[in-house]
Amino acid sequence: MKFVSRRGVGEDLERARELILAKGGEVGRELHLLADVESTNDEAKRAAKSGAPHGSVWVTEVQTKGRGRLGRAWVSPPRENLLFSVLLRLRCPPARLPPLALVAGLAVRDAVARAAKKAEPKLKWPNDVLVGGRKLAGVLVEATLSGQRVEAVVVGIGINVHTREFPEDLQDRATSVALVSDLPPDRGVLLADVLEGLDRDMALAAERGLGLVHARLTAADALVGTRVRAEGVVGIARGIDLEGRLVLERDDGVRVRVVSGEVTPTVS
Ligand code: BTN
Repeated sequence: MKFVSRRGVGEDLERARELILAKGGEVGRELHLLADVESTNDEAKRAAKSGAPHGSVWVTEVQTKGRGRLGRAWVSPPRENLLFSVLLRLRCPPARLPPLALVAGLAVRDAVARAAKKAEPKLKWPNDVLVGGRKLAGVLVEATLSGQRVEAVVVGIGINVHTREFPEDLQDRATSVALVSDLPPDRGVLLADVLEGLDRDMALAAERGLGLVHARLTAADALVGTRVRAEGVVGIARGIDLEGRLVLERDDGVRVRVVSGEVTPTVS
């Protein structure tokens, strides 16, 4: 990145404001650009408690306590990538929350596909965006409930944009937009595209379920036809059902539906 504003935020991110407003959606209309923060998900959750509106977004250049799913850390070199959280005030039962990570992943997948025309990004259930089998982005959805009512949904997204070298333990498993694209990526354009996708699909999916995006989910599915292990079940992945569950066909032909967890490829 060439230019960092006095506030410590890259010019490409500053430009995202105009791009987002030009798209005319609700998500990103309130955009907080931050130089550094512990975790944008925590910022969003704190602001949600103080009444921040639907569609507010927090983007940062540096995250000191970024987290991923299953208690893992999300580490990203300063000022290279996209680290942001979106506050959505959605009307839905708590059971609709896990599939929302897939819908958010689809918005990221689509934006990456636009940025990197030949890359063919895929969605790995439940929340990863992959290119060539390597992770390019992850989604962490956290919600605050009041009884059985969803008060706020925070969608945290990390996208590797400019990073070209990864730590040793990740170098065979991670990639970035810069590594899979012919053109230099623009974080502002990517951010505006992801937010547009979230604006279009998240509220609808929360209210009506996955029906409207299911064909796109199926087309983007990275696992279908591969042999995997998830939650102790081993089988061939047969797609994602309308509740967002991963369908695995065991060797005895029985189809098992997995609600959440970690998926690993397996030969056994
Ligand atoms: C995963 O793949 O496990 C999810 C990674 C999510 C990382 C993003 S970065 C912005 C937001 N803030 C966080 O602390 N985590 C999410």
